[in-house]
Amino acid sequence: MGCKIKNNIGQQIEKAEPKGDVKMEKKNIDWENLGFGYVQADQRYVSNYKNGAWDDGCLTQNAEITMNECAGVLQYAQTCFEGLKAYTTEDGRTVTFRPDLNAQRMHDTAERLEMPPFPVERFLDAVKKVVKANEAYVPPYGSGASLYIRPYMFGSNPVIGVKPADEYQFRIFVTPVGPYFKGGAKPLTLCVSDFDRAAPHGTGHIKAGLNYAMSLHAIVTAHKNGFDENMYLDAATRTKVEETGGANFLFVTKDNKVVTPKSPSILPSITRRSLMIVAKEYLGLEAEEREVTFEEVKDFAECGLCGTAAVISPVGKIVDHDKEICFPSGMTQMGPVIQKLYDTLTGIQMGRIKAPEGWIYEI
Ligand code: PLP
Ligand code: COI
Repeated sequence: MGCKIKNNIGQQIEKAEPKGDVKMEKKNIDWENLGFGYVQADQRYVSNYKNGAWDDGCLTQNAEITMNECAGVLQYAQTCFEGLKAYTTEDGRTVTFRPDLNAQRMHDTAERLEMPPFPVERFLDAVKKVVKANEAYVPPYGSGASLYIRPYMFGSNPVIGVKPADEYQFRIFVTPVGPYFKGGAKPLTLCVSDFDRAAPHGTGHIKAGLNYAMSLHAIVTAHKNGFDENMYLDAATRTKVEETGGANFLFVTKDNKVVTPKSPSILPSITRRSLMIVAKEYLGLEAEEREVTFEEVKDFAECGLCGTAAVISPVGKIVDHDKEICFPSGMTQMGPVIQKLYDTLTGIQMGRIKAPEGWIYEI
């Protein structure tokens, strides 16, 4: 079933209807061995903004986008995105984790980039529609994989003077993914980057595509030098811990307190905000969000990276030029507190542990 519609960047797209409540058979995918890559699923959501309003939006099978050579996104990088996941729970339900916070963060991001925010309720409805339509791609419970959901938005009409576009497209695609870092739960080695990720009063706190474009040279350099990721310090003083290119930091003190850096130029990670609640309310640990100086990092017992893609990935070592910080938790496994945080968070996401009110959205 489908109907031909024309979108505002001139494409004929096939409008596909959701399949109702019929449970789809899973795709024949080697779920256990998936990496963090793009697997094209069957349906995606698209809505266009023109003449000051978003259209009704629909699902389409067309994964290609055609646009004018002068589109705002191509000339001045006017684009932003989100990332969340859908999981199969132990009892076979398909759920997403706190999508309302992604909807709100994308709203805030759009405002900062002079883009028309996509309404929060419509974002939630669109996530539901896309996941439902691609339920065959939601990895089975216990496979270690999940369905990554990528909402994004970009300026689509021609813009040559430096100004915001007048027309936009909001889309959501999904792709089944495994661990973000090769090696799964093996502790990572980071380096302190010589490049900055975000300027004071800049765009580090929003999910703008431009933040990631300018981090590419830093990550390629880190990989060339044998590191898994960068630790960015604050650009103004280079004394405080910020985050990595795609995750926030979590530290554990020697007396089991969970500490996470507070900074106006890091992305307010939904995983980190959730973990601080998990630490306090599920594990009875003290948890604090505060400035963390690089100088004190050597005194922590455990370190991890947290984010939708990273989940919680342990860090074993941080290299700052000729100095090394080796965490006592070592290079073979997660430290005990990070492990408990990981088990509890993933337990909540997979339905093994009762979630706080409003965290789990059933598809
Ligand atoms: N920091 C950056 C720069 C990110 O790109 C992400 C990923 O979204 C995160 C942190 C983690 O945020 P969240 O937990 O909301 O996925
Ligand atoms: C996410 O965790 O959703 C992100 O957007 C991070 C990105 C590096 C994949």
